[in-house]
Amino acid sequence: MKIIKQISDMQRVIKIEKQQGKKIGFVPTMGFLHEGHQTLLQEARKNNDIVVLSIFVNPLQFGPNEDLDAYPRDFERDEEIAKLRGVDFLFYPSVEEMYKENRTTIIKVEQRVDVLCGKHRPGHFDGVATVVMKLFQIVSPDAAYFGMKDAQQVAVIEGLITDYHLPIELVKVGTVREEDGLAKSSRNVYLTEEERTKAPSLYKSLTLGKSLLEDGEKVHTVKQKMEEDILLQTGYKAEYVEIYAYPTLQELEKVKEAESVIIAIAVKFSKARLIDNIVFSYNKGE
Ligand code: PAJ
Repeated sequence: MKIIKQISDMQRVIKIEKQQGKKIGFVPTMGFLHEGHQTLLQEARKNNDIVVLSIFVNPLQFGPNEDLDAYPRDFERDEEIAKLRGVDFLFYPSVEEMYKENRTTIIKVEQRVDVLCGKHRPGHFDGVATVVMKLFQIVSPDAAYFGMKDAQQVAVIEGLITDYHLPIELVKVGTVREEDGLAKSSRNVYLTEEERTKAPSLYKSLTLGKSLLEDGEKVHTVKQKMEEDILLQTGYKAEYVEIYAYPTLQELEKVKEAESVIIAIAVKFSKARLIDNIVFSYNKGE
């Protein structure tokens, strides 16, 4: 495995691989790798000749009062995991390398961001779209792997790929969970011991919502019941509980036939802000 820190070096080695007809699979991350990230790497390893992993904590996607400085990092451990997972190139640029001079443009995401995390983290998805576009230009992947744990991010990247005619296959990978249902996340380390016992209630509440919706319960009632459930189970008021068509993220009532529906939830514990969702097929009126 080769660790690459310079953009020009990354572009140079990729050009050589591509000239040899190699298929490039790309997994962008912010590091502190867990089994969720590792599943993306595993999928990429299965279906590509070359696997590129990027580790970059992107300042542009953090709000002023968010956890940029506290974001967990452990490069040495990540390096070992990457080696074990068969990564060929680990792209690990500095902030100065990625944002060298004064930026003159930024990608502004116009749809799918007025709900869920987009609503609560203004500018977050502009930062994500901008860095992902930069990474795509640097790595030129044939396929890019993203986790459904961040379903809104997947929807935004899908729009980015379509809007900018990027010849990249977007591979969506299902959420990897702990045995008790808690979605794996780098931010789970922020949970206190007591909060950790309560955190699986996000997934439990999503499952409750799904069965209520399938039983024909109204969206409004489902959300209310989930909110009550979360408050009861965790002692915290959910930041949001929302239900939309997926991936358009439009209100279910407004779409004629939703192929998929997303139930999404965010809860702020003392330090950790956790998000989770489930996406499933849904036939209106059935
Ligand atoms: P990060 O939070 O490190 O996540 C990197 C990738 O791992 C994302 O595609 C995310 O959805 C996926 N992932 C995280 N937890 C997962 C889980 N439990 N199961 C399956 N996949 C999971 O998402 C980002 O970084 C950044 O926004 C990034 C795309 C790198 C842009 O900066």
